[in-house]
Amino acid sequence: MKEIFLLAALVSVLRADEITRLVGEINGFHEQVKFGTLCKGNPTNKHRKCDSFGCGNYGARRAGGTRKHMGLDIVCTDGDTVLAPFDVKINGPASPYKKGVKPAINNGLNLSGQGLCFKLFYVKPVKTSGTMKKGEKLGTMLPMQKVYTGITSHVHVQMCDKSDPTKYF
Ligand SMILES: *[C@@H]1O[C@H](CO)[C@@H](O)[C@H](O)[C@H]1NC(C)=O
Repeated sequence: MKEIFLLAALVSVLRADEITRLVGEINGFHEQVKFGTLCKGNPTNKHRKCDSFGCGNYGARRAGGTRKHMGLDIVCTDGDTVLAPFDVKINGPASPYKKGVKPAINNGLNLSGQGLCFKLFYVKPVKTSGTMKKGEKLGTMLPMQKVYTGITSHVHVQMCDKSDPTKYF
């Protein structure tokens, strides 16, 4: 009899544990962070596909296959307004290239929000510290066509830990 009670207790503990895990997963699914509009002219955050310079997806080949694309490219026309995708803290400026290389587009921001740390490249910032509310102007898309004529102009989104940002879009 005692064994049956013990077994029943064990089963209910396992079930509670399982339920807790499932509820966590369901909540996690519902709480998946999603980026709001990044570039005013691209309200649905369309990704850059492939063009003559390369593809916009995370992991795409770069430099003839010697390195990989560590971000996701979001289509944005040169001069367009870049918006805060959610409430953010501005950690500071970010530069896509080493000093002196391609100065026309060598600017960006390091941001935090929704538990994520990420960088936006090819953006001229309005400011490089403080905070911004979702939908406020973070900056302006730099003149990418001047540097890469014919490319699909884009904002490059890169997580600070270089993980894949695709699930957030
Ligand atoms: C971006 O800002 C965060 C928070 O200040 C910092 O930890 C991180 O090192 C910065 N830069 C990069 C490249 O991740």
